[in-house]
Amino acid sequence: MPNSIPRREWLKRTSLAALGLGFSLPGLAGPQDATYSPPVWPGPEGAKINLGSNENPYGISPMAREAILEMIPRANRYSFNIPSLENCRATIAAFHGVNRENILLTAGSGEVLSLTGHYFYKPGANLVTADPTFFLLPSLAKKLGYSVKAVPVGADMGIDLSALAGAIDSNTSLVYLVNPNNPTGTLLKPAAIKGFCLEAATKTAILIDEAYLDFLDAPDNESMIATAASHPNIMVTRTFSKIHGMAGLRMGYVISHPDRIRQLEDIYFNESQIAISNLTMAAALASLRDDQHRSQSRQNNAAARLYTQTSLEQLGIHCIGSHTNFMLFHLGDYPGNFAEFMLTKNIILRSNEYLGEKWCRVSMGTMEEMKQFITVMKQTWKQG
Ligand SMILES: Cc1ncc(COP(=O)(O)O)c(C=O)c1O
Repeated sequence: MPNSIPRREWLKRTSLAALGLGFSLPGLAGPQDATYSPPVWPGPEGAKINLGSNENPYGISPMAREAILEMIPRANRYSFNIPSLENCRATIAAFHGVNRENILLTAGSGEVLSLTGHYFYKPGANLVTADPTFFLLPSLAKKLGYSVKAVPVGADMGIDLSALAGAIDSNTSLVYLVNPNNPTGTLLKPAAIKGFCLEAATKTAILIDEAYLDFLDAPDNESMIATAASHPNIMVTRTFSKIHGMAGLRMGYVISHPDRIRQLEDIYFNESQIAISNLTMAAALASLRDDQHRSQSRQNNAAARLYTQTSLEQLGIHCIGSHTNFMLFHLGDYPGNFAEFMLTKNIILRSNEYLGEKWCRVSMGTMEEMKQFITVMKQTWKQG
């Protein structure tokens, strides 16, 4: 295993992460996109509108809720003793048209980022990724000793695939590509990303993070899963935290060639699937059957996003067209800390500097929540 961390230490770390403790360690929160740890929580008194963590504001599927309630009497059992959970892994695989051997279930997709970061590390290794992108893996990679080659996005905030390809060298042990990207919300078209993956996979391993792909419509929502299933150097990670609304239940997974999955599985709780609770597994299986919940969430999200973009643009604010459940907009020469200011208005969101400019990332809440956000913007934004 190309991993310099002793096995016992590795298991200790993954156990912490599975308990949700790993991510709350202050050192792990990256400067760019501290999704897991709001800067001030709960903030000043008053009702809060949380537009900071890209969650699904409509909650879990009613079918998932029902499945959890039905599973509670069996919470005393390990999942492998519960017949209805026996095929959880195979069912999620089949949902994507791949086999049980192609998938490893994890307690949230953050676990996949951590697992692959550890697995592919070797002295002198570098990680190639975009700047900005989701902080977790680049931040972990730095701690592990990788040098991180963060390739700036273009002027349109889109990921520059040819620059990324050019950054790969003989020391690159992992490429991390988030599509659509967080925090920019931009999309790489399926044909472009597939071409990139097939070429890059001849030199190194690639992890495609499709956390937000479910918010897209066909044909842009074409996943790289089918390609990953037959290429050990291509891996795709997905999560139940976004469109399924299960961020607090912790379920994610990685799909790749069976050989790669076996290697990753071997260091993830030693081939056991007990990292994931029975309640979560039951909820995930039910949620997959609830097309209505997903399509309703997708439609509501698109409507809230259109309203938000139109309203911000009416204030003269430059927005980056988003394919996700969040949107990035430019703060121009806003003088202070925008997120801190919005907190005084009981709205939680993220503001940050990317490539020398100030930006705000606002997650899509319900239409009602977005109307409240826009009301505050109209009252306080000074048009330039
Ligand atoms: C791009 C991306 N990947 C992975 C994650 C981690 O999600 P989870 O661990 O809840 O599956 C997030 C969370 O916001 C994300 O934005």
